[in-house]
Amino acid sequence: MVQTTSTEIIRPHGDFAMDAIDLRSDTVSWPTPAMREAMANAAVGDDVYGDDPTVNRLQDEAAALFGKEAALLVASGTQGNLVSIMAHCRRGDEIIVGKQAHIFRSEAGSSAVVAGVQLNTLEVRADGTLDLDEIRAAIRIDDAHQPRTSLIALENTQAIRGGVPLTTEYIAQVADIARENNLKLHIDGARIFNAAAALNIPVKELAAGADSLTFCLSKGLSAPMGSIVVGSKEFIYHAHRARKLLGGGLRQAGIIAAAGLVALRDMPQRLHEDHANARALAQGLANVPYIHVDMDRVHTNFVYFELDEHAPLTPQALRDRLKDDYNILMKPYGGGSLFRAMTHYWITRDHIDQVVAAMHTLLS
Ligand SMILES: Cc1ncc(COP(=O)(O)O)c(C=O)c1O
Repeated sequence: MVQTTSTEIIRPHGDFAMDAIDLRSDTVSWPTPAMREAMANAAVGDDVYGDDPTVNRLQDEAAALFGKEAALLVASGTQGNLVSIMAHCRRGDEIIVGKQAHIFRSEAGSSAVVAGVQLNTLEVRADGTLDLDEIRAAIRIDDAHQPRTSLIALENTQAIRGGVPLTTEYIAQVADIARENNLKLHIDGARIFNAAAALNIPVKELAAGADSLTFCLSKGLSAPMGSIVVGSKEFIYHAHRARKLLGGGLRQAGIIAAAGLVALRDMPQRLHEDHANARALAQGLANVPYIHVDMDRVHTNFVYFELDEHAPLTPQALRDRLKDDYNILMKPYGGGSLFRAMTHYWITRDHIDQVVAAMHTLLS
């Protein structure tokens, strides 16, 4: 029997509790007990034949939630972005995307290697946006010497700028530019539910101007794996072909989709807890010697902070002492003195207090 009713979320102790206070990312979050139970009981079929009832239900619910015609379960956020690019673009096309976007920095160049497109990158501003005039100026003219611009890609929340949410107003402006120039708009919405929680609006509003959007069931929603792309039926037809080409056609994927259904139904409502915990962490760290936190960069579940060069510990030593002495996992981001901590389902307010106390002890 597939589990169809929402299950009350109880943060467990014992066998299913995380063994460390792991703030390295929200990607480290384990599936909840309700997800494990749903996975064990999932009705399954061969999804390459379209026969898996749990996958079909998840895709239908996702499409409805985002106000789109159709949806497709994919293995990861990276695969979701790539199948979207492959569905929208021809080889040799160009995409306008942020220089700090995951698509540009952290997807192993897959858009170039696999999709054969090139990226025209623009600086992402502190508020997560690309400048509208710079977008307009980056669109190529129809000239045989130039690549064809076919897609604009935004990221919401914008991770490297502190998990900042992009507003519906901004997305509508970019969507207008796309439409006026016969381009498509894709949103990498790996954390779109965090954006919706921060802005207190339904995800449907954030997806309204986009031709496609990828969101992750893992990360903040805590499922063990899986992402979903949403868009028109025609777009999903092409994305489905691209998924097969990438070896992403899965068989009894209902096992994964069952956890995804719990993620989609039960987890978005609690994300404000993660955001409150991130703020509490940032406020606590702001009072720790040698730590510099820019509170203006704390919007959702990301906290970036800088370790002063005069601190008694190097960034690596601080990371090691947190791990060895307190079982707290955090790491310098990009190898320098900048740290990133992320809150998620398995991080409680009590953990935040423990982290702040440990940091005081180590740096005082
Ligand atoms: C903004 C953003 N987009 C896409 C991805 C890719 O997701 P995945 O790791 O599932 O491939 C990530 C991963 O952290 C991300 O932060």
